[in-house]
Amino acid sequence: MPPPNAASVLNILPPRFKPFSKSLLYSFSVPRNRTSISLLRCFSLYQNPIQSPSSPPPREKALGRSGALSPSPSAVENPTVVDVNPPRGTRDFPPEEMRLQSWLFQNFREVSRLFAFEEVDFPVLESEALFVRKAGDEITEQLYSFEDKGGRRVALRPELTPSLARLVIQKGKSVSLPLKWFAIGQCWRYERTTRGRRREHYQWNMDIIGVSGVLAEAELIFSIVTLFKRLGLTASDVGFKVSSRKVLQAVLQRYSIPEDKFGEVCVIIDKMEKIPMEEIEKKLIDIPISLEAIKGLLQVLSIKSLSKLEELLGAAGDAVADLKQLFSLAEQYGYSQWIQFDASVVRGLSYYTGIVFEGFDRQGNLRAICGGGRYDRLLSTFGGDDIPACGFGFGDAVIVELLKDRGLLPELTPQVDNIVFPLGEDLQGPAAMIASKLRQKGQSVDLVLETKRLKWVFKHAERINASRLILVGESEWQQGMVRVKNLSTREEHDLKLEELD
Ligand code: HAM
Repeated sequence: MPPPNAASVLNILPPRFKPFSKSLLYSFSVPRNRTSISLLRCFSLYQNPIQSPSSPPPREKALGRSGALSPSPSAVENPTVVDVNPPRGTRDFPPEEMRLQSWLFQNFREVSRLFAFEEVDFPVLESEALFVRKAGDEITEQLYSFEDKGGRRVALRPELTPSLARLVIQKGKSVSLPLKWFAIGQCWRYERTTRGRRREHYQWNMDIIGVSGVLAEAELIFSIVTLFKRLGLTASDVGFKVSSRKVLQAVLQRYSIPEDKFGEVCVIIDKMEKIPMEEIEKKLIDIPISLEAIKGLLQVLSIKSLSKLEELLGAAGDAVADLKQLFSLAEQYGYSQWIQFDASVVRGLSYYTGIVFEGFDRQGNLRAICGGGRYDRLLSTFGGDDIPACGFGFGDAVIVELLKDRGLLPELTPQVDNIVFPLGEDLQGPAAMIASKLRQKGQSVDLVLETKRLKWVFKHAERINASRLILVGESEWQQGMVRVKNLSTREEHDLKLEELD
């Protein structure tokens, strides 16, 4: 669930927390906007209150007969209309969305398992310094950052890679390399929202730490191909554009441009499709990059074949050698039809140092599906020793749009094994006992918790897609039996309790 906005949190806070509310909230402003976002600390307190000696015992939630919450006395005294939509660019996950998300994440997890990666995670809230890079990465401008109550600059993570690097440094020699880690986590970027781009998204990351050879990148790309295939996508739906940052490095060296300008140049060039060429040129001149070097750069970026690249750079350099090896490995893995060389792929994050790749939709309707590359020097920017590393991030939003377009989204319905329905209040105890017995056997049970009509129970069974209805009636119960109805065949019969499985 996305964080609610500050006003709405304060309004729904129970009266006993109102005096503390200001000190509990993590609230802050985001770039170019005055939206106040309040974070979950007060929420978790609301749901899971820590009792202070002075705090009164929690009140029962007042429930009406329909089960709806009745307004609390404070809401009646001070009614405020709260915007029920989540903050712009963020999502709620009602059950139908949650089912889809769980299905997608299960696929992410299953592919990660097939490639023998271990799952990790990091805090959503990190130190701001982790994401501030001098090269002018767009991600830095899009930070949701603020000062916490202790005066520390913190930020909601816009990506997972810096946190992973932090953890690798922290673990130091206690872990043996190589590490193969995957994570699925929510990221926050103050972006212009478009189809598949939001201000909050989940990313599946797979990273290999401690391997300098190209087989690592080949393995990562193959893991994404494996996912695409599981989802029903083929090489005619999607592909990967692949290049290497070393291509640009070679051009910059040719024009004697200092190495410390490299990240900045990459970040600017990555914007080529988003902003006019004159602006790109102006930004490069400001670095400063000579007009001659800019011309050389643009010439290289338009290359779409490895042989042309080899003609221009020669076969000796690392860039051509790495790429040739990757394409040869792809052939042996059997996925060469999924990948193509494209020198214009640079990627917007300044920390990449070698091969970079982007998954794209061949119809060209959507932004990048996923992206990654080699980042051999990120750890030293955080004060650690450099360890070769590569990985990718794969968002949850673009892929869903793509699957929708191709009619590949699965129909996901809820699935319950049993509904247990006591025919009268006196039978609630026996019904609860039967439900427990079945749950102990690993079956899911929806115990009908209120007095309802049989007609309602049948409708409800259909809604939740239950397989079996177990009616606990007075006369059957007296004989130690229950009535069991198979909801797909409509057959029904009485069963002894011990026969119920
Ligand atoms: P990235 O290209 O910034 O790379 O993001 C990776 C993927 O996350 C994108 O291709 C897209 O699927 C998804 N994504 C990014 N921003 C948004 C957004 N605003 N809305 C929806 N989806 C989005 C990284 O973040 C790198 N840290 C990936 C990486 C991991 N490189 C090495 N290891």
